This record gives sequence, C-alpha cells and structure tokens, in this order.
Amino acid sequence: MSSFPRKFFAKDGQVFTIDIGRPEELDEVIELLRIHFFATSPNCYLVSDWSGASDSNGMSNYLSSCLRHPVSLTVRDSAGRLVAVRLNELEEPEDVHLDSLTSQSKRRLITALLTDLEAGIDLFTTFNTNKILSLAMMTVDESYCKLGLATTLVGLSLELGKANGAGAVKVCAVSRHAAKVAAKHGLETLRTIDYATYEFEGATPLAHLDDLLAEHPVAAFLACRLT
Ligand SMILES: CC(C)(COP(=O)(O)OP(=O)(O)OC[C@H]1O[C@@H](n2cnc3c(N)ncnc32)[C@H](O)[C@@H]1OP(=O)(O)O)[C@@H](O)C(=O)NCCC(=O)NCCS
Repeated sequence: MSSFPRKFFAKDGQVFTIDIGRPEELDEVIELLRIHFFATSPNCYLVSDWSGASDSNGMSNYLSSCLRHPVSLTVRDSAGRLVAVRLNELEEPEDVHLDSLTSQSKRRLITALLTDLEAGIDLFTTFNTNKILSLAMMTVDESYCKLGLATTLVGLSLELGKANGAGAVKVCAVSRHAAKVAAKHGLETLRTIDYATYEFEGATPLAHLDDLLAEHPVAAFLACRLT
C-alpha cells in the first residue's frame, strides 16, 4: 500500500497531491460538490438544492461520516486548492446506510433509486466477505477533468479498501463517466435503472430532464471482488 500524501503527475504536466480525506476538510468538500457535482447527472441534480434545504445537516453528517472513514481521498492542485474528492465508506452487514439522507421528497426519491439499484443483491454472501468498500461520491473540478484523476482515485480507493479488510467493492454510478471509471477497474454492472422511466410515487419524475438524460441515461450498480 502506497503512503500518503502522494503526488499525481497528470499527462499535461500538472502535479497534484492526493491525500486521505479528513473531517476538518468538510467545508471545502461541500463547496467543491456544490459547484462541480450537483449539476451533472439526473441523480446529482436531485440533490442540487440540499445546501439550502432544511435537512442540509443530514447531508453534512453523511459527508462528514465518509471523511471519518480512512478510505476517502482528496486531491489538491499546486496552490493547495481542493480540486477532487473520492468519498468512500466501509460497510459491514449490520450497517443501515442512506438513512441520513432522507426526509424530503427528493431525498426519498434518491434513496429509493439507490436502494432499488442494489435491492436483493447480497454482496456479503456473493463475495463471502464481512466488509465491503462502498464508493460513495466522487467529483473532479471541471478544469481538471479527463486528466486521469478519477481513474487514479478509484485505483487508490481499492488499495485502501483492501488494506482495511474489504473483500469486495461496489458503486452506484449515477453518471456515465463514473460507470466507465469503475469498469476500468474491473467492476461489473449488476443492474441498471433508466432514469427516464423510473417510477416513484406514481410518476416518472426524472423523465423531463432531457439534457441530462441525453448524456447520462442510466444509473448503474457495479461491484467486484477485491483480491
Ligand atoms: C465522473 C468524473 C469524476 C470523472 O473524472 P475524471 O478525472 O475526468 O475521469 P478520468 O480522467 O479518470 O477519465 C475516465 C474516463 O472517462 C472519460 N471522461 C471523463 N469525463 C468525461 C467527459 N466529460 N466526457 C467524455 N468522457 C469523459 C475519460 O475520457 C476517460 O475515458 P478513457 O479511459 O477512455 O480515456 C468527473 O467527470 C466528475 O466529477 N463528474 C461530475 C460528478 C459525477 O458524475 N460524479 C460521479 C457520481 S457517482
């Protein structure tokens, strides 16, 4: 397992510093996500107003809990500015996750969609493990996209997961690019859900997001064994 912090040399010559995420970085992480995450895919769009919502504490608590796991990563540019995050969690069989995100209708929709993505798929049994690395949220500042940062962050996350005893890895990839990055590391698609036809409380609430759906038509659940 490589030590942290460590340098990442991008193909365009820029140098970044990758380190384990820490709880005291929460405010910077929230700001990065606010600008670069929430407008991306239909699912990200759903949480776009969370920072002003009455349950924003729920989201902050969730992000804070990711930063307390020793498997989340941050990336800073040469000026020390936060430019990417790979938030991860370590799940054990008794864990009940996502609850901290629910309350309003949009939150319930996100939770329902993510729950449906992995419903009935028991990775603990499939991979005969008591710990699963869950790749939670990732974002890269648009100015630094397509430099390989996400690919590197997922690779390092898998190393961290293994070092912390995880026997498998899973991700709910809500954008096309996130699914591509996961597949590059051997994760296989176990289920997809079409955003346009996804039914929630008798309606198809995402069907009208034409621009987003054109680029990101499905949410995908991917997983594989960590060896
Ligand atoms: C998804 C995301 C993290 C990818 O970050 P990144 O650092 O640009 O990814 P990489 O440079 O490692 O590229 C991975 C692959 O995706 C492709 N890719 C990334 N962004 C792309 C884009 N906007 N358009 C087309 N392809 C793109 C890359 O070309 C690369 O493909 P390749 O391996 O065939 O060369 C970034 O686009 C992002 O933050 N998006 C917004 C939030 C989001 O969708 N998060 C994931 C939710 S689970």
